[in-house]
Amino acid sequence: MPGAATFRTPAEAYDRHVGRYTPELSRALIEVAGAWPGDRALDVGCGTGALAGELAALLGAERVAAVDPSPPFVEACRRRLPGVRVEEGSAEALPFEDATFDVTLAQLVVNFMTDAPAGVGEMARVTKPGGTVAAAVWDYAADMQLLRRFWDAAVAIDPRAAELDEGRSMPYCTPDALGHLWSAFDDVQVSSVVVSAHYADFEDLWRPLEGGVAPSGAYTASLPPARRTALKAELEQRLGVSCEPFELTARAWIATGRVPQ
Ligand SMILES: C[S@@+](CC[C@H](N)C(=O)[O-])C[C@H]1O[C@@H](n2cnc3c(N)ncnc32)[C@H](O)[C@@H]1O
Repeated sequence: MPGAATFRTPAEAYDRHVGRYTPELSRALIEVAGAWPGDRALDVGCGTGALAGELAALLGAERVAAVDPSPPFVEACRRRLPGVRVEEGSAEALPFEDATFDVTLAQLVVNFMTDAPAGVGEMARVTKPGGTVAAAVWDYAADMQLLRRFWDAAVAIDPRAAELDEGRSMPYCTPDALGHLWSAFDDVQVSSVVVSAHYADFEDLWRPLEGGVAPSGAYTASLPPARRTALKAELEQRLGVSCEPFELTARAWIATGRVPQ
């Protein structure tokens, strides 16, 4: 997935972009998946560490491991979460023994895997029989407001952006597609959650996009200055925000399942 390369940026750029939503999403994912004191948990595609941090607060850092292919994110995660075992690696080849974890989670990651069925298969392999494997993905096509408005604005000024629109290009952003990816598990459930993020003003939302993080940021950074200015104006108008603080909401789909005994 070419989008995976867009996460080799400083961690702070991610934190100011989609990372604004991820602590709340992490708590929702943990609640839906279930994680209990004494469990060992793995965060696959840990990014800058929001989910691993929530798991460490619940279970203790020594019971949590995390893995991500982005060197700057791995470095940030190690710095932020002392005691958590943080590895550089990919879902498709997880650097852990079979049946190590009670709970294995991937937050906003399956769409960026090179081979998602293989990555989810690896998540199952490292999870104990009867353990839980779960993932969250954005509802890119409709109710992830930030990214939906962003790609609508991009296509309005540049029709060629349509092929980059994550609402079209992400293979697992509907309940059916995500449920299908989970079909090898027992007791599969797909649910939804809505989280939110606060912005001081439109500049607060725009600045991280210019930093090139995630597919939306990489697209923004690739534009020549005049087009970038046009995109900025179009997005501001579509969001209907300006110099005042505002909040956006984002819906995610969550799939959970149990590894067959
Ligand atoms: C949208 S970010 C999500 C980060 C974090 N889970 C969160 O919720 O903030 C996607 C992450 O997937 C990672 N990633 C990309 N390809 C991957 C792969 N094949 N296996 C595991 N992680 C991958 C990226 O490096 C990035 O950190």
